[in-house]
Amino acid sequence: MLDSHRFEILAGVAVAFAAYQLLRSSDNIPTVGFFGNLDSIYLILARRRKEFHEKYHSKLGPIFAFGMFKTHISVSDPDENKRILTNTDEFGKEALKDIGTGYLDGSLLALETGDEHKMHRALVQPAFGPTHLKHTAVATMDTVDELAQIWQSKLSDKPFEIDVFNTMNSIAIEVMISVLFGGNVKVLGKTADEKNSMWGNIEKSVGSVMTFRIVTPKILWGVLGISRYSKRVVDMKKRLEDSMTRMVENNDPNREGWKMNVVDRLSSALDSQKLSREQILAEMIGFFFAGQDTTANTLTFMLYELGLHPDVQQKLYNEIKDFELKDESDALRYINKFKYLDCFFKETMRFHPVVPTIGRLVVKDCSILGYPVKKGSDEKYYKNPESFNPDRWKDDQINPNAFQPFGDGPRNCIGQKMAVIEVKYAIVQLLKHFVFTNVEQQVEYKSVIVSSIKGVQVGVTPRS
Ligand code: HEM
Repeated sequence: MLDSHRFEILAGVAVAFAAYQLLRSSDNIPTVGFFGNLDSIYLILARRRKEFHEKYHSKLGPIFAFGMFKTHISVSDPDENKRILTNTDEFGKEALKDIGTGYLDGSLLALETGDEHKMHRALVQPAFGPTHLKHTAVATMDTVDELAQIWQSKLSDKPFEIDVFNTMNSIAIEVMISVLFGGNVKVLGKTADEKNSMWGNIEKSVGSVMTFRIVTPKILWGVLGISRYSKRVVDMKKRLEDSMTRMVENNDPNREGWKMNVVDRLSSALDSQKLSREQILAEMIGFFFAGQDTTANTLTFMLYELGLHPDVQQKLYNEIKDFELKDESDALRYINKFKYLDCFFKETMRFHPVVPTIGRLVVKDCSILGYPVKKGSDEKYYKNPESFNPDRWKDDQINPNAFQPFGDGPRNCIGQKMAVIEVKYAIVQLLKHFVFTNVEQQVEYKSVIVSSIKGVQVGVTPRS
């Protein structure tokens, strides 16, 4: 029974899963069985984790157990997931600490719960305040204007088709480096390979080590070349640290008070010996990982949906077409006026969640969903869940716990407001310059941060 064992819980937006380290399954929870476990290993290694959870939740209901070596539990009940994410007494974040060992040690993402996490979070939180959110809005608009120039000059006002992910990733990198690290990099117009030669492919390298660690017991990590001491992990860490060190060296040390960005705040903790150099670099790697492909894929899926739904695009354009940001201090107030943009943003995040699972470890005896549990589905929380319909967000009936793309509780996304501002301003500005059209294509997902396996091809026409 759950009450008597130690579980790792991965609670999520749409789905969640949990693990405990004993070689036994839980008595009452529906399980995926032997073949389901083979399926889980195959789908998770193929980076199709989202598909695995959706498949078995639709078969088995809001809670199921899986795992050959550890038993994991996946929970998709919104209210129970809210309880798991906000109850730090029973559910900790050690699951991620393990899979981040060797390259994320000491970062907010991977820290244990408790005082150390609180100290880090309090230290960097002011770097996500109104000053920085305004900076995000302006940096995003400037970056998209630059992109418009690049696209227009290259293509002399003719329609063209493009895989938009790499470009959205460049926007996310430029904005993030400017706002969090005070840097000024120009990567718009560069290919993915050119960018990878600057930082390494953080999603691929970090993501593949994470994926292997999720499906294999810790005891095998050395043999599989994914332990803290494996060459692959050591090389990856060094490369990431070198990149972050260069950013620290280029940082302007003269900002004070509310103007201080993440690097300024981390560096001040180095001076006061609260953090070591390694912890600072790990924290920066964590931000670089957490803030890049999450935002970029959300933007990519938004452009995909705009192409697919010209009516939605027109409605959105009508809402934003007269917008001009004359005064930076209005940036936050203005963006909240766009109600349809907000519905469209939420619907894209519901339909294409980029972080569909969140991990937790049960650290205290407890029960989940009080077994046995009834079968259920998304239908319970959203009418016609399979249709893309931004207007559903005008409906106050939606249970807010069914929509937690940024997590909840003390470990929720510290970059949430920044991501929302960035994504919304990017869409406003992109729509002012271009019309997006659909290119016949089905999106197939891969994780860790969910993206489309074959990229996302979108038709782009300069707006006359
Ligand atoms: C669409 C964009 C984004 C999505 C969907 C997203 C999603 C999430 C989620 C679900 C969590 C909670 C994980 C958990 O509870 O275990 C999280 C945590 C976190 N996110 Fe984001 N995120 C996004 C953008 C960003 C950005 C732009 C940054 C940085 C600027 C960022 C930095 C972080 C950090 C540092 C944490 C760990 C916080 C802690 O444990 O205290 N994220 N994010």
